[in-house]
Amino acid sequence: MALKFLSTTMTTIAAILLVLLHCSITTAINPLCAAVCECENLEEEGYLKVDCSKVYLSIVPPVDDWPENITHMDLSSNNITALDVELSHDSVQVLDLSHNHISTVVQYAFGGLSKLTYLNLANNGIKRLDDNGFYGLDHLKSLNLSSNGMDFLPDGLFYNFIGLQELSLADNPLVHIEPLHFNRMINLRWLDLSNVDVYVLPPNLFHTTGQLEFLDLSANEFYEVPTDALRSAKNLKHLRLNENSLEVLSKNSFKKLQALEVLELNNMDHLKEVKDGAFSDLISLRTLEMKFNRHLTTIHPKAFEGLFNQSRPTLQEIDLEANQIRSLDKDMIPCARIAKLNVQRNPWNCDCTLKWITNCELQRIYAADLRCADPAKLRNSFIYNMNANLFECNYYSSDIAKSEIHHANVVKTISVGLAAGLLVILAFGFAVVFKWKDIKTWYKGSRRGQGAVYYVRARANPREI
Ligand SMILES: *[C@@H]1O[C@H](CO)[C@@H](O)[C@H](O)[C@H]1NC(C)=O
Ligand SMILES: *[C@@H]1O[C@H](CO)[C@@H](O)[C@H](O)[C@H]1NC(C)=O
Ligand SMILES: *[C@@H]1O[C@H](CO)[C@@H](O)[C@H](O)[C@H]1NC(C)=O
Ligand SMILES: *[C@@H]1O[C@H](CO)[C@@H](O)[C@H](O)[C@H]1NC(C)=O
Repeated sequence: MALKFLSTTMTTIAAILLVLLHCSITTAINPLCAAVCECENLEEEGYLKVDCSKVYLSIVPPVDDWPENITHMDLSSNNITALDVELSHDSVQVLDLSHNHISTVVQYAFGGLSKLTYLNLANNGIKRLDDNGFYGLDHLKSLNLSSNGMDFLPDGLFYNFIGLQELSLADNPLVHIEPLHFNRMINLRWLDLSNVDVYVLPPNLFHTTGQLEFLDLSANEFYEVPTDALRSAKNLKHLRLNENSLEVLSKNSFKKLQALEVLELNNMDHLKEVKDGAFSDLISLRTLEMKFNRHLTTIHPKAFEGLFNQSRPTLQEIDLEANQIRSLDKDMIPCARIAKLNVQRNPWNCDCTLKWITNCELQRIYAADLRCADPAKLRNSFIYNMNANLFECNYYSSDIAKSEIHHANVVKTISVGLAAGLLVILAFGFAVVFKWKDIKTWYKGSRRGQGAVYYVRARANPREI
């Protein structure tokens, strides 16, 4: 133990000596770079990066110690607890303070960082920020506030963020989102509102953020799609709605999202049904992920109607892995028109309805874990390799089929009866028409028969004559 400690100490001392030696050789080196941080000067590219991550800092090093012309300052994964002085530096563009223990941020904390374009404050303990918390950050393009404890955003907090393009507020217990906060973000393209405890969004929330392309609303409390708010995001291309409490998707769920290309609807424990035309309005949709929804049993045959239009680019990738779907109509997803189809790990009922899957080209369909759940004799069989003859519709097994058969039997009985009756009538008719004479003859004959008998008798016993 002691020996090990000694050797560690020796190594540390040796390292420090080496650093000092290095310092004395390369003259005029910055004290921060000399002591704890790693500095990388890429003069040609105009960068001077200082990496002070994971070095157990408990305060932000005084700005006077930062190298002149520094562009990137990485202070992530330290033990900084407060931003209690106003930072002022005229060349820093990127500042990473993520993964610290920051809970207090003074007013004007970033007031002198006029060139800052990227600020990461993720994974700290910030509960509240002052109205002037981001004062001075007029050129900020990206702000990451994810995983703090914020339950309130002061009205003026984002007032100067006209140039902001990326904002993450993920993993904060915000509950309410106000249009006021986004009003002035006319250049916002990327917004992460996942896991912020919201269950409703104000309509027109994105009225002024006309550039918004990506929106993450995952892991919230939505029980229906916030259609009105989404409709105001006219340029939205990628929407994540994973892990929400939606139960049903219907024709009105995704109205007017005509620019949407990627839609994610995964891991929704309450989703049961997708109705007629649910995706029909999404005329630009290329990729649909709707997987790991463990209660999703029903997708209406017309849910995707209109998305495979010959005259424009269409839905290319569909991922329906690990739902509870048992059957899929041949015409619902025209395999020949899409690039990737994943329907693995669903409890497939391998009857004649599903036969089309074996005709879907292997480069288009994921087949490695595509197996039957029913009928019993095919359980766990790999669908893709199955002989087409095995996909049979056994009508005696389903209730509907049984009632159909009963119906058929009744019809059969009635028609057999009718036919028999008709035959009898016909036969009688024929007999009457064609054999009337014969009948008459026969009748007469039988009358005459007595005579005949007599005649026979007369001749039979000629001796009597
Ligand atoms: C900082 O940049 C200025 C202007 O680009 C330059 O004159 C100066 O030499 C640079 N300082 C260092 C230490 O590189
Ligand atoms: C970081 O700070 C906390 C308390 O603020 C302390 O318990 C912990 O030991 C510190 N860690 C290091 C590596 O200094
Ligand atoms: C925000 O920071 C967290 C933690 O560093 C990181 O995981 C996440 O990807 C960042 N988000 C953005 C948009 O940069
Ligand atoms: C295909 O799209 C065009 C243009 O968007 C539209 O006019 C036409 O009605 C669509 N056809 C079908 C069959 O949906």
